[in-house]
Amino acid sequence: MENTILSFLESNKDRYLTEVKEFLSIQSVSSQSIHNTDMRRCAEWTAAQMRTIGLSNVRIMDTAGHPVVYGEWLGTPGKPTILLYGHYDVQPVDPLNLWTSPPFEATVRDGNLFARGSSDDKGQVFIHLKAVESYMKSVGSLPVNIKMLIEGEEEVGSANLDNFVLEHKELLKADLVVISDSSMFAKGVPSVCYGLRGLAYMEVEVTGPNSDLHSGSFGGSVHNPIQALSEMIASLHDKNGKITIKGFYDDVRTLTKAERNAYKKLPWSDKQYAKQLGLKQLYGEKGFTSLERLWARPTLECNGIWGGYTGEGAKTVLPAKAFAKISMRLVPDQTSSRAEKLFEQHLKRIAPKTVTVKIKALHGGEPAITPIDSPGVQAAVVALEKGFGKKPLYQREGGSIPIVVQFKKILGLDTVLLGFGLPDENAHAPNEFINLDNFFGGMRTCVHFYDELPEYWQRSGKSRAK
Ligand code: BES
Ligand code: MN
Ligand code: MN
Repeated sequence: MENTILSFLESNKDRYLTEVKEFLSIQSVSSQSIHNTDMRRCAEWTAAQMRTIGLSNVRIMDTAGHPVVYGEWLGTPGKPTILLYGHYDVQPVDPLNLWTSPPFEATVRDGNLFARGSSDDKGQVFIHLKAVESYMKSVGSLPVNIKMLIEGEEEVGSANLDNFVLEHKELLKADLVVISDSSMFAKGVPSVCYGLRGLAYMEVEVTGPNSDLHSGSFGGSVHNPIQALSEMIASLHDKNGKITIKGFYDDVRTLTKAERNAYKKLPWSDKQYAKQLGLKQLYGEKGFTSLERLWARPTLECNGIWGGYTGEGAKTVLPAKAFAKISMRLVPDQTSSRAEKLFEQHLKRIAPKTVTVKIKALHGGEPAITPIDSPGVQAAVVALEKGFGKKPLYQREGGSIPIVVQFKKILGLDTVLLGFGLPDENAHAPNEFINLDNFFGGMRTCVHFYDELPEYWQRSGKSRAK
């Protein structure tokens, strides 16, 4: 039976590629209000796809922000129900001039499909849509029940999704969550992800004098807010790359020996990594390997800093204000609310008397560790091996998907993180792409995953949601 489905998939590859280009042509940038109608169009496109592939009860559901798209196929009562989560929104495209081909005209080069959202996450949502279609259009049914929940605000912090899930607990009732919104370890090295970092995102405003000043007439007698802010930011790391915020590491769960040993066995080269990034040397917290730093240690990054004059030519000015956006990536058992508090207290403490400092928390999300002995993960391991011809390895990720923890809290569900991207696919950057082998390998893997899940589910003796 699987062969029927896989050969349907194989013979429809060209059409699938044409259709994903259409999906990727919609400028669904959630953070920019000029794209609000594009967001709506993208939700409509997603809903129309869901109907075309044979889902029922398909709806566009309004939230206080961008809409959520929902669709389901519940034709096999007694079999497990997957809640498939993904996002149709994408990051802004600037700087536009660094794109080799236009971000919303998906283009194939060297076996890669280039477009904003190709890897994060429209391309990966599409993988599931077409895995489902391949079943529905060839054998007319699925081996599992599926509820698809595709949101439009992931890239801006999913501010309305917690409420949405709370208000639709019954609708979203399922046995497990599956998310394809992360990466495989490397090309040809499939993996199951079992950990994500959390996030606390802050904005700092530093005010000096009550107005911009002539830098000649006043410079030397007034602490420049850009300088004050830079001094504060520079002091947030010590010479060992450790974050100096008091209490910041208190709740960090220590890496187990077993985990450290497992990471050391992964096929990783610092030298190659540095080379790929155009760096002479890597940077990070002393006493930890790169993978440990990326997956299991918290970080603090300055995402942006501005103030004063940045236009053409020179303007001699001592600015009244300076700003920075600073984020912290968090690991178990840190919480975003505590990190926010510690950050604010620390900055207030180190702020010189020459300026005033205002701090805002923009958004946060909690770190997640998902169980790897679950039937969902066991089915994923087998499916990845069938889909990519190689046993997957276990990894964590440095990025964040805050809803994972909320699915557990609100719906009681564990998540399987089944990522088909690659770490070097330029997510959030110019020239984002998805590798086409992984794109179609992902579809095959999903076909196998749906097929394998019921057996592993039953073996584990889990009771069903319905
Ligand atoms: N798909 C990413 C999350 C991700 C990235 C998972 C890399 C695994 C590896 C997601 O779209 C994303 O970008 N999330 C944001 C967080 C959000 C709160 C804005 C992130 O990680 O910065
Ligand atoms: Mn994503
Ligand atoms: Mn993203």
